[in-house]
Amino acid sequence: MSGEKLSDNFVTVLAPMAGYTDFAFRSICRDYGVSLTVTEMVSSKALVMGNALSRRMLYREEADKPCFCQIFGHEPSVMAESVLLPEVAKYEGVDINMGCPVRKIVGSGDGSALLENPRLASQCISAVKSKWNKPLSVKFRLGVANSDGAIDFAKMCRDSGADFVTVHFRTRKQMYGGKADFSLLPELVKTGIPVVANGDVADREQAQRLIEAGAKGVAVGRAALGRPYIFAQLKNEPFEFDAMNCIERHTRLLLKIFEERVVVNEMKKHVAAYLKGKRNGKSVVVQVMSARTLEEILTPCRIFFENGGKNGEEIK
Ligand SMILES: Cc1cc2nc3c(=O)[nH]c(=O)nc-3n(C[C@H](O)[C@H](O)[C@H](O)COP(=O)(O)O)c2cc1C
Repeated sequence: MSGEKLSDNFVTVLAPMAGYTDFAFRSICRDYGVSLTVTEMVSSKALVMGNALSRRMLYREEADKPCFCQIFGHEPSVMAESVLLPEVAKYEGVDINMGCPVRKIVGSGDGSALLENPRLASQCISAVKSKWNKPLSVKFRLGVANSDGAIDFAKMCRDSGADFVTVHFRTRKQMYGGKADFSLLPELVKTGIPVVANGDVADREQAQRLIEAGAKGVAVGRAALGRPYIFAQLKNEPFEFDAMNCIERHTRLLLKIFEERVVVNEMKKHVAAYLKGKRNGKSVVVQVMSARTLEEILTPCRIFFENGGKNGEEIK
């Protein structure tokens, strides 16, 4: 295409975030042109055992496409069985979580525990691959305490049947602190498996640097919370964002499947994100946190935005 640079042509991904990237938030990011979304992580074992909550977590909107279902686990046969369930099969792809650093998950041998057991990780990938004929990806971190094994891990994913990997360029030890270190990206790209880069991506310049270093796309997590329009910004596309309209749309979406009590709890954390960085936003968030009804959430937000202009004034 004339005038289009290589660094303009990339995939944007909404990184999976437990407690956030349900169907409602994914649909909102879709409004702003995200290329690919991923569900919250769901336990393959819980799915296979028929756990109602896990199955419900996989509710989706038709328009949110393509979307990958992220599963976690460590038993190859259970993981393979889970992708045959209709709740998973309705997704365009499956992503296997091999990066979660949370103690409970690691303690059960799931998530980033698999970084320490590449043989078992490989068996999990091939087992899923044998039952799944749509795209399959693996999301992992650089390593447990350092990145020494990252290249071999990417090769293992490639050789076990993954179509691409999403790499969070932090170690498990770093949890979510410190900075993502992308120095290994060119080496990872050389393994031949397409790499989606993840960690602290918050603007177009950073995304372009990663694309120029060989990434096929960028996955954005925390920077999308409260700012779903980041996906339009990354592509330099025009967009309109009215925070109050967005809060109302988000609420309406959640009400499609949850009762008010659940929506109140869900919306508290999202409202905190939508108001983050806005002058006097904190006092509204404090009010919203003790809300018991949706009106107790929406009314202070409406008053705030009516008084503070369309989007509330940003703190400079
Ligand atoms: C609240 C929260 C929940 C997360 N849940 C998941 C998850 O379910 N699966 C996963 O692979 N990563 C999960 N992550 C990690 C993110 O996908 C991402 O790798 C990480 O936040 C780094 O990207 P960022 O700097 O753009 O946020 C979570 C992160 C956060 C902050």
